[in-house]
Amino acid sequence: MAETPQEPGHETLSNLLQESRRFPPPADLAADANVRADAYETAAADRLGFWEEQAGRLQWERPWDNVLEWEPPFAKWFTGGTLNAAVNCVDRHVEAGSGDKVAYHWEGEPGDTRTITYAQLKDMVCQAANALLELGVTKGDRVAIYMPMIPETVVAMLACARIGAPHMVVFGGFSVDALGSRIDDSDAKVVITADGGYRRGKPSALKASVDAAVQDRPGVRHVLVVRRTGQDVEWTEGRDVWWHDAVERQSTSHEAEAHDAEHPLYIMYTSGTTAKPKGILHTTGGYLAQVSYTHWAVFDLKPETDVFWTAADIGWVTGHSYIVYGPLSNGATSVMYEGTPDTPHKGRFWEIVQKYGVTIAYMAPTAIRTFMKWGEDVPAQYDLSSLRVLGSVGEPINPEAYTWYRKNIGGDRTPVVDTWWQTETGAIMVSPLPGVTEGKPGAAMRPIPGITADVVDDQARSVPDGGGGFIVVRDPWPAMLRGIWGDPERYKETYWSRFEGLYFPGDGAKRDADGDIWLLGRVDDVMLVSGHNISTTEVESALVSHPKVAEAAVTGATDPVTGQAIVAFVILRGEVGEGGEGLVKELRDHVGTSLGPIAKPRQIMVVPELPKTRSGKIMRRLLRDVAENRSLGDVSTLTDSSVMDIIAEKLPGAK
Ligand code: WT7
Repeated sequence: MAETPQEPGHETLSNLLQESRRFPPPADLAADANVRADAYETAAADRLGFWEEQAGRLQWERPWDNVLEWEPPFAKWFTGGTLNAAVNCVDRHVEAGSGDKVAYHWEGEPGDTRTITYAQLKDMVCQAANALLELGVTKGDRVAIYMPMIPETVVAMLACARIGAPHMVVFGGFSVDALGSRIDDSDAKVVITADGGYRRGKPSALKASVDAAVQDRPGVRHVLVVRRTGQDVEWTEGRDVWWHDAVERQSTSHEAEAHDAEHPLYIMYTSGTTAKPKGILHTTGGYLAQVSYTHWAVFDLKPETDVFWTAADIGWVTGHSYIVYGPLSNGATSVMYEGTPDTPHKGRFWEIVQKYGVTIAYMAPTAIRTFMKWGEDVPAQYDLSSLRVLGSVGEPINPEAYTWYRKNIGGDRTPVVDTWWQTETGAIMVSPLPGVTEGKPGAAMRPIPGITADVVDDQARSVPDGGGGFIVVRDPWPAMLRGIWGDPERYKETYWSRFEGLYFPGDGAKRDADGDIWLLGRVDDVMLVSGHNISTTEVESALVSHPKVAEAAVTGATDPVTGQAIVAFVILRGEVGEGGEGLVKELRDHVGTSLGPIAKPRQIMVVPELPKTRSGKIMRRLLRDVAENRSLGDVSTLTDSSVMDIIAEKLPGAK
């Protein structure tokens, strides 16, 4: 909870998020853990030395002269050093004799599968690099990638990295306008796409959206198209090129040039709900060092034996860092799945875990809560005993979702690591380490070794144990964004102006009595009720801890008496039925008991669905529109805009 120390009259809710369950690391995992407890002190004693050691995980053509050059707020890491990201992800493993090792077990949504070894991946990347060069792409040019979740997406990214052309991946579910504005902002020269991809059992078109987006954008010289679904596509001669024509005839050798450590690796636009999307820029050496280290440390990765699965889309930073660059730089074997969790049935994820013997699985709380809603009988039908570490990312994980995940997916055996980070941070920043840190449902616990994250109050003072405020990062970190593409002023203003000399991610946080960190969501999601700051996350977690609730979204609505009043939207668990007045009272009382009477929602509405962005974040802004009886704002970034119609139907005055 964010406290307001400058207003001493405002008491605080001391019992918010009282979570007493603790899960110590399993003894066998702790005994053999990649990272030991002393890593925190070692890293703190010599932070730059620590990161220098992590950079040593990579293969450098030329070593760096300086670990860090810091002209606040602009950082350069490993300056003078040169390396090639694609060589680090692929070639060096083949050269070390691991060519036959599986890089990806790929599973298409319709059930088709492909097994891609490191040697095959290397050949494919070299061919794609040669094809891009032939299409006139040169070092520094931007290449847009708008693809389904297929192996060619990884190949395309690595081919760009190989030749030093920063990639700019746009999530395949985004609209023509979203793609177009990102192409404009990044000035991309080539777009790589597919005819379509499979989602929810149907082929969905991608090429058609690219056609519409590039129609008035002559800056795009070529569109390179992978055939995935075989659906009909329009064709513009001279501009459009089939992947199987342009790539597959190329030589499988390509001499890779080593790029500067600070050479741009990619741009990824953040999904900003209202303002213009920000092109977050990541560079090569520092980014790769931190994603490689965090993937190994936070998941206790044993590259020889683990089967790692990030169930996210490559169109998000989670996919960039933990489907592509982290796992490949560590020479790991990953699972990559094209489709949705309920196609063709609700057990699809667990079937995949069983089939490939997945040992580490990483997914978002929104997915976990969906699985809770479907019921524990679904995963119970599969053998999930291969799992040994589970991860969560994307938003605060409610304690109830955490314990459900640990119990029903992890067999009450696996640690759950709640990893806090952002597109901007590039890699995991705050997280338990599974062999060291105890698990506390709902807490991201501690900054990983080498990261100086802190919780501060309004005046940038570090809060004591038990205090709340904002998460900040004190020192530059290797995978940090290097800026906003084309807009250095906006970079300074967005991240470095709230607190002098500190990076401000925009999230509320608190430090509990043990000194462990809890993330409380975006500061814009904090409500002010009768002078109390109450975070939407806390009330949502209280609601989800009720046995009849599967999912909850909370927003503050203007209230003449309390300033803001809490309005909650809940989805009930499968077996509960419709609810009714009795249940609403029961839920209000439940929140009152767990958080205190001040946190009781004024209104609780039972709904069948919640509005979410395509990255799974609840759009509280739209719920606030509903709660305040306003017409809805922009719904174009919703996964499914019909959700708002469904909610509106149930609630008079919501449209
Ligand atoms: C925002 C970043 C990190 C990759 C995927 C999302 C929220 C993320 C957690 C977590 C609480 C979290 C924050 C953050 N967030 N992980 N473990 N606990 N909040 O990347 O789209 O850039 O979103 O997601 O609010 O600022 P993103």
